[in-house]
Amino acid sequence: MPDLPTTRRAFRRTDDFTPGTPKVKLVTEDLPAKLSATSVLVKVHAISLNYRDANITNGGNPWPVTPNGIPCNDAAGEVIAIGDQVKYLEIGDRVAPIVDTENLTNRETGRSWLAADEDGVLADFIIFDERVLCKLPQHLDWVQASIVPCAGTTAWSALKGVKFGRTVLIQGTGGVAMFALKLARAAGLRVIISSSSDKKLDDLKRKFSSPPLLTVNYSTHPEWHEEVLKLTDGVGVDLVVEVGGSSTLIKSMKCTRRGGIVSVVGYLSKQDNQQFDGLLGLIIDRRTIVRGINAGSKQDQDDLCAAITATQMTFEDIIDSTQPFEKAEEAIQYIWEGKQVGKSVLTV
Ligand SMILES: NC(=O)c1ccc[n+]([C@@H]2O[C@H](COP(=O)([O-])OP(=O)(O)OC[C@H]3O[C@@H](n4cnc5c(N)ncnc54)[C@H](OP(=O)(O)O)[C@@H]3O)[C@@H](O)[C@H]2O)c1
Repeated sequence: MPDLPTTRRAFRRTDDFTPGTPKVKLVTEDLPAKLSATSVLVKVHAISLNYRDANITNGGNPWPVTPNGIPCNDAAGEVIAIGDQVKYLEIGDRVAPIVDTENLTNRETGRSWLAADEDGVLADFIIFDERVLCKLPQHLDWVQASIVPCAGTTAWSALKGVKFGRTVLIQGTGGVAMFALKLARAAGLRVIISSSSDKKLDDLKRKFSSPPLLTVNYSTHPEWHEEVLKLTDGVGVDLVVEVGGSSTLIKSMKCTRRGGIVSVVGYLSKQDNQQFDGLLGLIIDRRTIVRGINAGSKQDQDDLCAAITATQMTFEDIIDSTQPFEKAEEAIQYIWEGKQVGKSVLTV
């Protein structure tokens, strides 16, 4: 067996939220001399960034986070050592940890999110218990595999229950949205994408030209839900992947058909509870299923990996950019400024 590493490099949050100051710091830390019985040492090959990482490092997370923690929850890597009672993984397996390590089956009551309640994955080596590691699809390269756990599982959970031929509204052109677009296309759904940028929409229409992608600019059409209704003969979509939060939820419900689903994924707009006026009446009148999404369980992530393997789907067309691991600070800032279409990934 090759010599195992004794140290790792990791980025930890500075917890200095002053604009313009560094948000992460590169540190070298000791790795344990011996793995505990069911632990697995993973050599990380790629880490993908999410809006959440930029939000946490800039102090905006609505939930508490541990001080100076390691950011990021999307990574792909290779098993290089296992504890002496590991049963399901072997050296050489390609794996990713799940995002909420307390959620294996959707029936656990606890919560432990990477990069918030415990350290995340922005490091060159990570150690996790084997029960929170999923095997990744073999045909994906490391960069594509790294977007599966958070963006992928969230999009997968958000789209659950919508059948072939139905119509979905996917908001924005960020990581979750682009993954949802890929899954929706593979599942035979009619897709409407909204964005604040005509250029982003035109680029996407070219990239996903067949069948034609339907689009709405929510910036030039503040009443964008009316545009969505026009595109669906006044009926509304069957499901919305909702990322705006309080400023978009009511409008999303207004352009969802009776009995349709609004998957509440994000909170990108400024949160203002006054915008929820009329919510209850609307839910009852339109019989809307408002469904909270919190990534997914290990079971969900395994199901997604099975679907990706079955379809041999690839994701190179939704990778916005890659940068070396050492450029973590710049990559976080890039996400914070919302410059990406799809995923921004760091390679180790
Ligand atoms: N619940 C979960 O499990 C979970 C998991 C992952 C992410 N999230 C949340 O989901 C949201 C998206 O995450 P992400 O990583 O995909 O973000 P991202 O890559 O940073 O994408 C953000 C994009 O969303 C669009 N957007 C911003 N404000 C909008 C609005 N008011 N209405 C419609 N679209 C809007 C913008 O697209 P345009 O530039 O095209 O306008 C923006 O580029 C975040 O709030 C994140 O915290 C939740």
